Amino acid sequence: MSDLEQELSALRTAAEQSLQSADSADALKEWHRTYLSRTGALTTALRRLKEVPADRRAEVGRVANELKTILETALHARETAVEQEADRAGSVDVNVDVTLPGRPLPIGHLHPSTAAIQEIYRIFHGLGFSAYEAPEVETDRINFELLNMPAGHPARDMWDTFYTTTPGLVLRTHTSSFQMHAMWQTAPAPVRVVSAGKCFRYEEVTARSEFMFHQLEGVAVGPGITFADLKSVLLEFANQFFGPGQKMRFRKSYFPFTEPSVEVDVACTLCKGAGCHLCKQTGWLEVLGAGMVHPTVLKNGGYDPTKVSGFAFGMGPERLTMLKYQIDDIRYFFSNDVRFAERFP
Ligand code: DAH
Repeated sequence: MSDLEQELSALRTAAEQSLQSADSADALKEWHRTYLSRTGALTTALRRLKEVPADRRAEVGRVANELKTILETALHARETAVEQEADRAGSVDVNVDVTLPGRPLPIGHLHPSTAAIQEIYRIFHGLGFSAYEAPEVETDRINFELLNMPAGHPARDMWDTFYTTTPGLVLRTHTSSFQMHAMWQTAPAPVRVVSAGKCFRYEEVTARSEFMFHQLEGVAVGPGITFADLKSVLLEFANQFFGPGQKMRFRKSYFPFTEPSVEVDVACTLCKGAGCHLCKQTGWLEVLGAGMVHPTVLKNGGYDPTKVSGFAFGMGPERLTMLKYQIDDIRYFFSNDVRFAERFP
């Protein structure tokens, strides 16, 4: 063994011993200076590598480099241990009272529209309806034509439409477009489904209308379905959504895809029918549109209108939520203010 090799071995023993007694950041810095810095013992020793006989030089160089790594690793380990010891001994965090309850983290919350849709789905699931998803971008044919509104039909004016740059393709103005998909999937077998999703209307944004909002559509087709079925399904829905004993009334109306058509009101949720500002002193709030599916629409959906009949309805989850909780502005739903979301169960 060359002198240098003996020296390196002694250096390792001395460095390791003195590292164990270094117990502060300053002491560790000093230790680094003594052994590993550019003026430290190891570097100084390495300068003498050329004194080693040529046949041993490579080997001794390798040992020296290895020693450098060993000492660096030992230094890091010791630094960590010293820091932990300092923490434990109380320099920084010792005054933390570990018995205090933790700070609660904010948990996510369903958007009120989503919560309403889920609640409505739950109710209709209980009434034997399954759920279906339908496209938001729709053909003019499905959104209008097959729903008994050929091009130029004046009823199209009831929906201010966003047209896309692709001719014949629109953003759906209502979820009634879903009726066609539901029927095509099932005809001639009976169908009983609901579907919720976004609708778009080229309208001025006001407290009562947004250019994007949700609708939830339902359709039931089968032998012997009557208006009484529609009434009982909607009444049961209102009782579950608004609370038991809810009164409901059906007003005649017009939609091209249903005959007869109705608009449905519930007794005002605020004054229970006595008359107040929410119901504009009428005692009633309009909640949805509905009717018996028009024979032409049944035919377009693949059914024989002499053999089956059906009902359909469309409601707005935001509108229903507003009526249930007396919210006076639909814009709250889409203003992304988390305080609004947090107010609802
Ligand atoms: N689609 C109608 C609207 O957007 C609502 C509606 C009315 C849906 C009657 C229906 C219905 O299914 O039968 O105003």
